[in-house]
Amino acid sequence: MIQRAASPSFLGLDDRTAVVTGGGSGIGRAIALAFAAAGAQVAVLDRNREGALDTAAAIEQAGGRALALACDVSDAASVSAAAEASLDTLGPCDILVNNAGIIRPGALETLPAADWNAALAVNLGGCFLCSQTFAHQMRPKGRGALVHIASISAENATAGAGAYSVAKAGIVMLSQQLAVEWGAQGIRSNVVSPGMTLTPLTQARYEMPGRTERMSQAIPAGRIGRPQDIAEAVLFLASDRSAYINGQQLVVDGGFTRMLMSLLPRGDY
Ligand SMILES: NC(=O)c1ccc[n+]([C@@H]2O[C@H](COP(=O)([O-])OP(=O)(O)OC[C@H]3O[C@@H](n4cnc5c(N)ncnc54)[C@H](O)[C@@H]3O)[C@@H](O)[C@H]2O)c1
Repeated sequence: MIQRAASPSFLGLDDRTAVVTGGGSGIGRAIALAFAAAGAQVAVLDRNREGALDTAAAIEQAGGRALALACDVSDAASVSAAAEASLDTLGPCDILVNNAGIIRPGALETLPAADWNAALAVNLGGCFLCSQTFAHQMRPKGRGALVHIASISAENATAGAGAYSVAKAGIVMLSQQLAVEWGAQGIRSNVVSPGMTLTPLTQARYEMPGRTERMSQAIPAGRIGRPQDIAEAVLFLASDRSAYINGQQLVVDGGFTRMLMSLLPRGDY
């Protein structure tokens, strides 16, 4: 006979505190809202204070608990201050989602060093700083989940994207190193790599006539990704449902990166 679980919650996130960086927009906002809908309380960190406040307000309006914090993930002092404020108000962090990211586009031939450094400092350095800082709050419980948002660009060189792909590739290895260094402490580290997803970061790309339709045709799912698609994967990897998954990458791209063989004009089959 099938025994129904005592808790109706599949993910079991009700008593958890989640910290989401870059939670003031796009994918980060969807992740923050999804955690709140699953019963977790959420610290929304963003360099853009207004964005963080809007996300937190949406969570509170829906009956959840949230704290908005202005934070630059590339600045160690700013991350420390946010971690202290989050601890004071929401208690120790159980889940950290390293989502904050930027693109400083440019061809490598002429890319200014400042753009190279900024992309690495936010996208990769921010993951390191936040992981190191918030893990202090996880260790006393002997439990924690890190989920880092990389990209399909981590394994597919993206011409003209400056240091973006390099930083995202670095996140995949950082996550693996965290998994092996901290796994024995009960802290898991995994990556979610989104494919093409419609957010304020990429909106301009889809505004050109016919572009969305053409790009959708290249994706087995037949559509561009939505922030909610990414949030679903993040919640799974943050929950105890994935307790034995550590150091892995989950690609959420509608099948796009499996289309290589379909690009050939073979003609036979
Ligand atoms: N949208 C896509 O197609 C796509 C695809 C693959 C990966 N991603 C990744 O997903 C993540 C979210 O992207 P998005 O599309 O939602 O972008 P977005 O621009 O809508 O949101 C990013 C958020 O990060 C914040 N942020 C930027 N720099 C920060 C810093 N130094 N400190 C704190 N916050 C900072 C921004 O203020 C913004 O609120 C990024 O890591 C991005 O690289 C996006």
